[in-house]
Amino acid sequence: MDKAYDLTKEEAQALIRAAFEVLPQAYVPYSHFHVGAALLCADGTVYTGVNIENASYPATNCAERTAIFKAVSEGKRDFKAIAVCGGTDGKAADFCPPCGVCRQVMREFCRPEAFKVLLAKSCSEYREMTLEELLPLSFGPGNLA
Ligand code: THU
Repeated sequence: MDKAYDLTKEEAQALIRAAFEVLPQAYVPYSHFHVGAALLCADGTVYTGVNIENASYPATNCAERTAIFKAVSEGKRDFKAIAVCGGTDGKAADFCPPCGVCRQVMREFCRPEAFKVLLAKSCSEYREMTLEELLPLSFGPGNLA
């Protein structure tokens, strides 16, 4: 069983700051619920993402998937952590846990016991969880091997 990635407080807070910085870019004319995400790659690079809604509601893309798809399409596949923040009108009044689809997309590229998800209300108020805690007994690439 792999150990969880250990993030320093500085690394965690820098990632959360990146998620808050991108939050205003969320395209949310329907829900007005802004979400920002920042994905830390094993090589230290960071990819951010926001939710991008669509008049055909199911075509919406969540912030976490935007960040992951940006990274994968740039050749990155090794990830350590993702920070997520957001709320109505861009105010992070509460934690914003990733939806089930985003958890499953994380599962494709990340070891559940190692990958960290940072749920943030601010740079100082956040929860750190592993993907395994958020998505236990998950189905992944190994199940098809
Ligand atoms: N949303 C995300 O961006 N990430 C999540 O994991 C939860 C939900 C977005 C989708 C939609 O634009 C809005 O939040 C309300 O559901």
